[in-house]
Amino acid sequence: MKLKIPGVPQATVLRRYTPGQPLVDGPVLSLPPGGAIAEGLSKILERAGVSGSGESQGGASQRWAAIIFDATGIRDVAGLSTLHGSIAPAFRYLRPSGRLIIFGTPPEDSAEPERAAAQRALDGFVRSAGKEARLGTTANLVYVADGAESGLESTLRFFLSGRSAYVDGQVVRLRAAKPTPTADWAHPLKGRVAVVTGAARGIGAAIAEILARDGAQVVVMDMPAQGAALAEVANRVGGTAFQVDITSKEAPAHIGAYLTDRHEGADIFVHNAGITRDRSLVNMPADQWASVLAVNLDAQLRINDALLHENVLHPGSRVICISSTSGIAGNRGQTNYAASKAGIIGMVQAMAPEMARREMTINAVAPGFIETAMTKAMPFATREIGRRINSLNQGGLPVDVAETVAWLGQPGTGGVNGEVIRVCGQSILGA
Ligand SMILES: NC(=O)c1ccc[n+]([C@@H]2O[C@H](COP(=O)([O-])OP(=O)(O)OC[C@H]3O[C@@H](n4cnc5c(N)ncnc54)[C@H](O)[C@@H]3O)[C@@H](O)[C@H]2O)c1
Repeated sequence: MKLKIPGVPQATVLRRYTPGQPLVDGPVLSLPPGGAIAEGLSKILERAGVSGSGESQGGASQRWAAIIFDATGIRDVAGLSTLHGSIAPAFRYLRPSGRLIIFGTPPEDSAEPERAAAQRALDGFVRSAGKEARLGTTANLVYVADGAESGLESTLRFFLSGRSAYVDGQVVRLRAAKPTPTADWAHPLKGRVAVVTGAARGIGAAIAEILARDGAQVVVMDMPAQGAALAEVANRVGGTAFQVDITSKEAPAHIGAYLTDRHEGADIFVHNAGITRDRSLVNMPADQWASVLAVNLDAQLRINDALLHENVLHPGSRVICISSTSGIAGNRGQTNYAASKAGIIGMVQAMAPEMARREMTINAVAPGFIETAMTKAMPFATREIGRRINSLNQGGLPVDVAETVAWLGQPGTGGVNGEVIRVCGQSILGA
């Protein structure tokens, strides 16, 4: 239970996804009319049964559930004024847990300095809007590369819906990828085999549950010592359990053989198992350094190697690696942990081109402060500060990390590759 602290504002209860819930809980304002990808966006909204669109439907003062702004056509500084002129009047009328989603083109893809500048300006705009937003509203930016327009749907749906409740101030790049239609948006992972390491409890167990809810057949993995808890999770999600210490020498080969023999391979692999052994650098024993690097980083590298080498992953596969905002911002007492979590980002970025060649993706999810047994054990003051230093003024839940993993796991999310998505409510750390 959270305590009320005098003088400290209470956090808004975020709108989180439940099956059957509409994508948004009100009309969506789409701006500006006639933008380069506006037609594609409005077709997606139509298919999703979302009402509203241009300013004519009630003007700026409607209680909008979301504002979608197509900024892909902005090429210069003057063009940026439309961003201010159109969004500012409607922004104050967003409903609680509202959404501001801006679409641009990757600045680095432009050879024209002014166009690149104008597109990069969107980044600062969105992050600032996220910090000004109130009542659970989030602001995110999607850069859509040339040829990636047909792969927008899973990403637009994710950012509009309650699935992205704790994803705020993020910038995602969408690149051209083989189009993969999704037949059933309530079960986008139907027919996929998904593996989650460290799934006996906490965030891993939540990931297993959400992947199963979305239709995947789930294989949960954890240490033999966690066998009973792991079996319980497997039963809950109608999946299978495989006990393995991912740091053992044989683990990569055993995991590969198990998946090939029992499931004819896998489509989603979530590297979630992780440990902390916090100590200041000068007081850190060598074994604490080594164990954190072994579980959090080396095991992921060795398992990925085996999965690709033994062709365990099918074309269209998704590998998702759990990093941490500590790996982006650094954290006192966590030189080992932050090094391991930053290392994951290096691995993801280096593997992305090879994964694309195989029609696969690899991405990192970096959680911020998540309400788990680990954060519950923190001293009161550290915990209260940790959970409040973000734009949403609260900690996230394991399900928020799980929803992000599930979006990256979708067949239709093939355009997102080599990215790092923070699930941190726009924490001021690692921004
Ligand atoms: N809780 C947070 O706020 C937070 C924030 C950022 C990142 N993360 C990351 O999210 C992931 C899950 O965190 P959590 O809070 O649920 O942790 P947790 O300690 O509750 O669960 C981790 C699981 O990994 C398993 N595991 C550890 N070593 C293993 C090994 N050698 N082989 C197989 N399984 C092993 C554990 O048995 C445990 O079930 C971790 O990678 C963690 O670093 C958590």
